[in-house]
Amino acid sequence: MTNILVVNSSVLGDGSASKILVEEAVQRLLKASPGATVIHRDLGNEPVPHLTTATVAGVRGVPATDAELATRALSDELIAELRAADAVVIGAPMYNFSIPTGLKAWFDYVLRAGETFSYSESGPQGLLAGKRAIVVETRGGHYSEGPARAFDFQEPYLRQLLSFIGITDIVFVHVEKIAFGAEVREAALTTAKAKVATVVKQPYADAA
Ligand SMILES: Cc1cc2nc3c(=O)[nH]c(=O)nc-3n(C[C@H](O)[C@H](O)[C@H](O)COP(=O)(O)O)c2cc1C
Repeated sequence: MTNILVVNSSVLGDGSASKILVEEAVQRLLKASPGATVIHRDLGNEPVPHLTTATVAGVRGVPATDAELATRALSDELIAELRAADAVVIGAPMYNFSIPTGLKAWFDYVLRAGETFSYSESGPQGLLAGKRAIVVETRGGHYSEGPARAFDFQEPYLRQLLSFIGITDIVFVHVEKIAFGAEVREAALTTAKAKVATVVKQPYADAA
């Protein structure tokens, strides 16, 4: 593995649980592949602009205006980072049952027909095969089992977004019940760190 793309999206600053876990994953990946390069995107601090009427042709259409061309250039840059990555580590907190708008905006730039997916007679096809994604999902509550499971629009959505562009080797690391007090939060972080350690040792699905 030579390239790691790190995409954080928490808006909660350095105390962010997902950032702690994402960093844990990156350090473990670097230990396994010491020469790997790491590219960071911090969408909570430096968001990509949401698409607007004035810019959408940069990702869906033929860009002509300065604003559309700038959008196309940013989309090209973000896609190049993703394409070059062997491993993608995503910090995805649950905000209002789904993902932060900053992360959604990033996906709006990287899901591009002809670049990361194509349409064929048999339906859409992802073009970014052969990558691994480690997705850290932090949640104030408890959604992996029990009645709130039905309200988890975070994990199925992320799985669909990534697999749509061909990234199907995805491991989700849960950090749940963060809002249940400091002790529960610490325990969740410890369990998640252990999972990260296991995940990094696993062979890539494509190579298995
Ligand atoms: C805007 C916002 C919306 C949130 N919505 C939910 C939610 O729907 N369900 C939940 O369990 N926690 C929710 N939370 C709590 C976060 O998931 C929790 O604080 C988690 O730690 C955030 O991850 P982070 O520490 O990496 O930022 C929300 C937090 C924020 C800031």
